[in-house]
Amino acid sequence: MESFSRKSFLKRAIGVGAVLTVSEFLEACSTVTDRNFGPKGNDPYANSESMKYDRPIFKALNVGITAPNPHNVQPWKFEILDDHSANLYVDENRLLLDTDPPTRQVHIGQGTFLETLAIGSTRLGYKAEIEMFPKGKYETKDIGKKPVAKIRLLPDAGISADPLAEFIPLRATVRGEYHGSVLNETEFSTLLKDAKPNFSRAVMMGISDFPKVKKAVYSAMEVETNTYQTYEESRIWFRYNDEEINRERDGLSLRGSGVSGLKYFFVRNFFLSPGKESWHSEGNRSAGLGMFADQVESSKGFVYLVTKQNRFLDWVLAGRDYARLQLAATKNGYVVHPLSQILQEYHQMDSLRKEFETIAGLKPGEKVQMLVRIGKSDYKFFSPRRELEKMILPAGKKTI
Ligand SMILES: Cc1cc2nc3c(=O)[nH]c(=O)nc-3n(C[C@H](O)[C@H](O)[C@H](O)COP(=O)(O)O)c2cc1C
Repeated sequence: MESFSRKSFLKRAIGVGAVLTVSEFLEACSTVTDRNFGPKGNDPYANSESMKYDRPIFKALNVGITAPNPHNVQPWKFEILDDHSANLYVDENRLLLDTDPPTRQVHIGQGTFLETLAIGSTRLGYKAEIEMFPKGKYETKDIGKKPVAKIRLLPDAGISADPLAEFIPLRATVRGEYHGSVLNETEFSTLLKDAKPNFSRAVMMGISDFPKVKKAVYSAMEVETNTYQTYEESRIWFRYNDEEINRERDGLSLRGSGVSGLKYFFVRNFFLSPGKESWHSEGNRSAGLGMFADQVESSKGFVYLVTKQNRFLDWVLAGRDYARLQLAATKNGYVVHPLSQILQEYHQMDSLRKEFETIAGLKPGEKVQMLVRIGKSDYKFFSPRRELEKMILPAGKKTI
């Protein structure tokens, strides 16, 4: 079976009119659990009410955890200080050390959390004051031990909700093929007016760069896929079926890759079975690469965020901007898909990363923190988050 290409197999299987049992059909078409834990679907504001999170800090944290984050590892833990404040730490048990050796992306994921919380807090009637690295100098050895930020919610009866707040329950990373037309400069500047990146420079690539970028990001995905350790890391965070998605409430999945319906049924059943052997097989790797090539080919634009320096602080602040960019894209009817492989810092990626930095025309010291493709899509999948309670350090737990 694995010697078939994904496309030829799907064509053949669908072409012969494969018959599904009722339960197989229902599973293929089913949807999985909502993003935010609780009875109110994807809406963290409503879930906080239903879950009786009466303390303001829990309501705000519950919004923050819907933020985009690498591999959906949800690398956060919280120390509750009082009803209005908490410390945010990296969860050192949820790092991605093979694809993210410096922990840059995990720290971007701290920033996306902080910005999502800050935006959401305005809708709850609070201004979120964020103090970065409140215990002073922060180095690699401090990960998980010193807080990345202290959050304090300041009540403000006159505050109006951030215009991006209503898009938090609707935001999702969409990886399937995109439709629509190529973004023009006017559309990009409208997007930026909503995103208002505060800490990084947002750049949209010119259409003449598309062929180079598409080729480069595909080559980077080839390196990640064909490097055992980096591809193995994806396997560890891969949830194979709906039962696993619903149980673990984290990680990556076929559904999250933009595969649904009958296609989902066939790919899941004929290409993917749990275990290292199937994951690293030639058939599975080429199916994944083929799907990625189609996705990249359908891109309607490429946007990246650059910082002048490349410190822990820059990573977190770039994450804040990325959360705004993705919410602004949602507001304007677009979806985005990060293409992080080519930005990563393991040695097999060095030459491709440098090549991309040349395409992007970086000045010395600058770093591209996020690169995304952008376009339109009707695909809907909301990757679930773990229950907030699981992210709270024991000292604060009794107060939830
Ligand atoms: C720093 C960072 C890097 C990411 N890199 C990738 C990537 O290379 N490929 C990808 O498909 N998604 C990437 N993502 C998106 C996450 O996988 C996604 O946010 C996560 O699975 C949760 O899904 P959601 O955004 O739909 O809530 C990245 C997100 C962040 C914050």
